Amino acid sequence: MIGTGYVGLVSGTCFADIGHTVYCVDNNNDKIKKLNYGETPIYEPGLDELIKVNTRAKRLFFTSNLSEAVNKSNIIFICVGTPSKKNSKSVDLTYVLKAAKEIAKISKNRKIIVTKSTVPVGTGDLLEKKFKNKKKFDVISNPEFLREGDAIRDFRYPDRIIIGSNTVNSFKTMKNLYLPLINKGAKFFTTNRRGAELIKYASNAFLATKITFINEIANLCEKTGINIEDISLGMGSDTRIGSRFLRAGPAYGGSCFPKDTKGLIYIADKEKIELSIVKSVIKSNHNRKSLLLKRIDKILGKNLKNKKIAFLGVTFKPNTDDMRDAVSLYMIPNLHKKKAIISYYDPTGEKKEFSKLKNCFFYSDINDALKDTDLIILHTEWDEFKSLDFKTLRKKKNFIIYDLRNLYNVNQMKMNKIKYFSIGRPPTN
Ligand code: UDX
Ligand code: UDX
Repeated sequence: MIGTGYVGLVSGTCFADIGHTVYCVDNNNDKIKKLNYGETPIYEPGLDELIKVNTRAKRLFFTSNLSEAVNKSNIIFICVGTPSKKNSKSVDLTYVLKAAKEIAKISKNRKIIVTKSTVPVGTGDLLEKKFKNKKKFDVISNPEFLREGDAIRDFRYPDRIIIGSNTVNSFKTMKNLYLPLINKGAKFFTTNRRGAELIKYASNAFLATKITFINEIANLCEKTGINIEDISLGMGSDTRIGSRFLRAGPAYGGSCFPKDTKGLIYIADKEKIELSIVKSVIKSNHNRKSLLLKRIDKILGKNLKNKKIAFLGVTFKPNTDDMRDAVSLYMIPNLHKKKAIISYYDPTGEKKEFSKLKNCFFYSDINDALKDTDLIILHTEWDEFKSLDFKTLRKKKNFIIYDLRNLYNVNQMKMNKIKYFSIGRPPTN
């Protein structure tokens, strides 16, 4: 596994856990050192234990020596980052191409090269050209569908395993690799390489569309006194729609949806194809963040100077420490610019992203973060926020809650006489 990020490390560990011998490589020596000391560089529930078990069983190894790993393996997964290029929709393939070049230079015999990172349609063709004059390589697309926080479960019980290849015989090798999962019911779906590359982008873009759709319906609900949760339930029970990814929230974030929706537009633009729906999803999701700020102006009054605002959670979703494209990265600096005093608590600790903001303070204790606050913003729906004792908190100071994840019950807030706002549901006052 080349790249031990959220995808490479989880996939590599899980491959070892189904019996394979796996070498995880990363050019970040510090990460490899930590892993060899038994320290997991990312927050992913259950991963720690799984790494320990499989390293002890001598199925899982961590090294920064690419050539050792490549020459001991017959299947090489590329899991390096494929970020969006700065201020553009295009996908940065530098790391993918670099990894491919190094593999071609190092390997002595035939290998199967698998792109697991999300790569634009046609990347496999590009890599194949790189290998053409070297040795016979099979370049395969095997995109991942892991959700951070549920990545191990998503690996073990995938809805489908997608293999894209232009040479049939590599399907057999890949089927053997995934056999333990297929025997437990995972669908093994094969297509050509470009098909697999597009399935990944189209899946993520569709999920982002679903979320953006329900977020916009939530705006309509706020104007019409309707509860968005009834809409999600009423719609979701139609199996053609499905209830998952229909939870209204602040806006989607993370390392994938923002990047992959833009990546899909980049692919379509190259072919001069207009993807108007995906474009409107990107725009709507971006505008939603300023909508939230306007709502805060309305709740607290235009002048936020010295108003105390506390964030509960700042990561883009619970059960991860990943801050990539978290909505808090947009909200906190903007509130700070309006001279509000920000405090935040997150189970995964202090964030470097806010270290430059002089009136933004991390607290490792929730009660300290909430002390004397005027507005509590529930940003990330961590389980530990589900049973906060607002009653006791309320005794000390009147505060307002803006619940971006509809974690709390409107009637309960009414009973506790707390001014409460949420997403797509009537406020308490
Ligand atoms: C990555 C891609 O960003 C994403 O598009 C794809 O869907 C899955 O793989 P992720 O694992 O979250 O997702 O990436 P990241 O957390 O950035 O990890 C990439 C790892 O590759 C890092 O540990 C980095 O150090 C390593 N890397 C990067 C290399 O080992 N070599 C390189 O040349 C570049
Ligand atoms: C996503 C895809 O789900 C996964 O298949 C792909 O491999 C990588 O990208 P991830 O980004 O880890 O996974 O998290 P996900 O649970 O999909 O959430 C993405 C964003 O959508 C988060 O900001 C989350 O808060 C938001 N979301 C998700 C909603 O707002 N409502 C929902 O109902 C679901």
